[in-house]
Amino acid sequence: MARLIGHRGAARVAPENTLAGFRAAAACGVRMVEFDVRLTRDLIPIVLHDDRIDRTTDGQGDAARMTYAEIRRHDAGSWFDPRFRGERVPSFSETLALLGELGLGAIVELKPASGQEAETAERVVETLRQEWPENLPSPTLSSFRSDALEVAQRVAPDLARAVLVKKVPSDWQTRADALEAVALHVDHRYLKSSEAASIRDAGFGLFAYTVNEPDRAEELFNWGVEAVFTDCPDRLLASVAS
Ligand code: G3P
Repeated sequence: MARLIGHRGAARVAPENTLAGFRAAAACGVRMVEFDVRLTRDLIPIVLHDDRIDRTTDGQGDAARMTYAEIRRHDAGSWFDPRFRGERVPSFSETLALLGELGLGAIVELKPASGQEAETAERVVETLRQEWPENLPSPTLSSFRSDALEVAQRVAPDLARAVLVKKVPSDWQTRADALEAVALHVDHRYLKSSEAASIRDAGFGLFAYTVNEPDRAEELFNWGVEAVFTDCPDRLLASVAS
């Protein structure tokens, strides 16, 4: 299993959640990436972390209120570095095609805008059913939003789900059981070794985000964390086997 997962592609190496970012992650040597999917106003699944396009493009606006064509007018690379000028906010579809070419597995984080929880999960599942590359291991769906994961559970019970949290809640096992989740994805800054042990002892997978220091990754692996999301796969791969 991959121990290093490129976070939003390789977020410190190339602009996050772009095709260039996924290529950069593959060039670093990771075998799996994580990225965020939400819907445009015309219900096209796109790969974008924030509700708004402001931070990661040269435009402004709430993605859920913009059409795909409007979002595509904006540059999603030059904010990071001028050499990435011309990158666009990718569609989920074109991202999947590229993953197939690069041989990258994926953690697909559902990032629904408020009120679009069900529709986001449904559209993502529909696209995965039709377009997930056959050469890749099956993806995992994750989300901070239990309501989106519940919809995924109903419409695609066969697709692996992970409960995404900042801190491990006291009712984590009830939540994970209800969602028939295979794993918890947890912010490493709040994770305690005792929590890691309980999660692993109960038979769940455990991934930690966002880990950019090799020593911290090693410590987490020693706690039983199976994989870490990292912005710097180049740095971590030098000392951690992927
Ligand atoms: O999926 C792990 C991690 O990406 C969650 O945090 O803020 O990047 O969605 P965020």
